[in-house]
Amino acid sequence: ERGSQVLGLGHHQPPQVLTNEDLSARVDTSDEWIRTRTGISTRHVAGDGDTVASMGAAAARMALAEAGTDPQRVSMVVLATMTDEDRSPNSAGRVAAELGLAGPAVLDVNTACSGFEYALGIADQAVRAGTADHVLVIGSEKMTAVTDWSDRSTCVLTGDGAGALLIGPSEPALLSSVVWGSVPHLLEAVRVEGTPSRFAQEGRSVYRWAITEAATHAEHVLKAAGMTAADLGVLAFHQANLRIVEPLARALGAENAVVITDVTESGNTSAASVPLGLSKAWHRGELPAGAPALLFGFGGGFTYAGLVAHL
Ligand code: ACO
Repeated sequence: ERGSQVLGLGHHQPPQVLTNEDLSARVDTSDEWIRTRTGISTRHVAGDGDTVASMGAAAARMALAEAGTDPQRVSMVVLATMTDEDRSPNSAGRVAAELGLAGPAVLDVNTACSGFEYALGIADQAVRAGTADHVLVIGSEKMTAVTDWSDRSTCVLTGDGAGALLIGPSEPALLSSVVWGSVPHLLEAVRVEGTPSRFAQEGRSVYRWAITEAATHAEHVLKAAGMTAADLGVLAFHQANLRIVEPLARALGAENAVVITDVTESGNTSAASVPLGLSKAWHRGELPAGAPALLFGFGGGFTYAGLVAHL
């Protein structure tokens, strides 16, 4: 059965780092509060010249280089974001232009923090159907552009960056079919609203859902992949909060799996968080080659999606 496989991973973070001490000088908070409630110590902040497309292109370039694939073979770019600068052209098209690709299909996906898993699901379905071959799947966010720097309950959470996977055809499929859905009663729980856009959330209801309901959906992803938690080598959950990532990992009971905890260094980078954390750990040599990795995202909309990829 034709499916897809991961050929390369890449990431990019702007160099400027904002510490909890830096934030304590701006709003009434402390390193201790931020660390104990969220696990976050630092986050990267985009400069004026950085855009969703420029960060996404940098991550994509790294994934292409690792795969050793000729960029001209990319027939589709799917980019997940909720913080792009313009409504049109889309950021996937801007990435294609920056990389000098040969006219691939280009589309953006906005399902907030689950955007990358939606994008990967769409890309995988296109490869399965034979309508695309090599696909760049990118999560890129400039969260600091929509951050309200006077709101201590949200400004301590967000960070900027991008992650990318290059996928290509494979027989058998090394990426499981996506499981995706939404949660109607949380529709308005996470928002980027108004002009200028501002990130707002009901932190408590998101937290409650994440530690009580999310594990069940993650188990559905494993079932669809024909696996159990014991088979997993890597757990890559959306990096919203260490106090969500750790209980979710325990609830699944994947004892042998490496748990991605990049939220501590990068904050919440929304759609970028899973590929960013995964690529950083991969390039540091922390992930076993070929290991099945569960990718599971959740966030604004309120949306969730997941799949299992062999790295
Ligand atoms: N520093 C100091 N005090 C703070 C800060 C801060 N940065 N932020 C809030 N507080 C105060 C509040 O004002 C409140 O004080 P009060 O009791 O005097 O009113 C107190 O701390 C508790 O505030 P809560 O918002 O109830 O704090 P909570 O314990 O729920 O933690 C958090 C907030 C970390 C956001 C938590 O709700 C959470 O993890 N939610 C999950 C959602 C999440 O991570 N969302 C990210 C984006 S959405 C997504 O990625 C899916």
